[in-house]
Amino acid sequence: MATRVTLIVGARPNFMKAAPLVRALRKHPDRFKPSLIHTGQHYDAKLSQLFFDELKMEPPDVYLGVGSSTHAQQTASIMIDLEKLWMKDSPDLVVVFGDVNSTMAAALVAAKLQIKLAHVEAGLRSFDHSMPEEINRIVTDRLSDYLFVSEQSGLDNLAAEGVPVGRVFFTGNIMIDSLVASLEACEKSDTLERYSLRPGEYAVVTMHRPSNVDDTNLLRQLLELMSDVGRSIPIVFPCHPRTRKEMERLGTPIADDSGLQIIEPIGYLEFLRLQSQAKFVLTDSGGIQEETTYLQIPCITMRNNTERPSTTAIGSNVLTGPDPAKIRKAIKGILDGSHRRGTIPPLWDGRTAERIVNHLLNLCP
Ligand code: UD1
Repeated sequence: MATRVTLIVGARPNFMKAAPLVRALRKHPDRFKPSLIHTGQHYDAKLSQLFFDELKMEPPDVYLGVGSSTHAQQTASIMIDLEKLWMKDSPDLVVVFGDVNSTMAAALVAAKLQIKLAHVEAGLRSFDHSMPEEINRIVTDRLSDYLFVSEQSGLDNLAAEGVPVGRVFFTGNIMIDSLVASLEACEKSDTLERYSLRPGEYAVVTMHRPSNVDDTNLLRQLLELMSDVGRSIPIVFPCHPRTRKEMERLGTPIADDSGLQIIEPIGYLEFLRLQSQAKFVLTDSGGIQEETTYLQIPCITMRNNTERPSTTAIGSNVLTGPDPAKIRKAIKGILDGSHRRGTIPPLWDGRTAERIVNHLLNLCP
């Protein structure tokens, strides 16, 4: 009998991690019967449906539609719905991705129902417990039977936490599988023309972390900085709904002569196109630190820590925190060409899903 594998996705950064694994599992129809549950943590078409279309993912088998609320409410809604589903009919294996609330909620339910649990992107730690994602990572890893790790720090962290080595597999970065598979398609996109941008002569900004956008004073300072930098280099800023809401409250302080364009969230291929041709990227995202590292595009991360230290150790990423002076200094270094150029970490090669499936072929009876 084929192993019934249920993959859980909920928020934007999950979709590009699940797509390659679904494809790789489907190559073994005699061994695996994959299904997909979308919790509905992200529900806006531009944060969700667009990604399914561009990644050529089939619609989810189950859509929970939990939507936005507080962390406890969102996590609890997902747990209640999944428990109901799995008490009636449980899969043999649940696979969760990354560090969003949907990941931890599914991990808790699977563990309590004694369903085998696999975590893709295990072991990452920012050691910053003020980040909800760090709590999600710790809980999920603690409960997982199989931990698939994307970079060396993940192996080190899990070893330090005493996770038995037999559960841990160094399989590489699955997000890079989607990136590699999409590079050709993204070259056909007319994104640059649409925003009147020339290759190598513009910057990309993303910002959505509560620590940067929920503090009105800080958000104002960061927007003023971007508006000012936009006088020297065009900037395109696809804006997350959370940030947009705060900006509406604040009244966006963008100068008339600034080349800063604040646009709606854009799709995966369009965003990949923007990143791949940018002079630099300024972000507080986790995944973008990795994508820019692979693309070898200079990245400035407006956080004081990263759970992805390979991007700063050998990649092209630098951490500035949300400090305007440090951000300006890093931008200056890039514009005058004195910044560090990075290399690509091991096993970020587009074949991670295949390696995970090879392990699962051995692990699943
Ligand atoms: C979530 C993840 C974060 C990830 C990010 C990517 C957690 C704890 N955080 O953060 O790790 O980097 O997704 O986008 O899971 N909203 C909408 N439409 C949507 C979704 C959200 O308007 O489709 C708004 C709502 O006002 C909501 C807010 O964004 O309250 C936050 O959404 P939520 O999914 O809770 O967290 P993100 O900030 O998106």
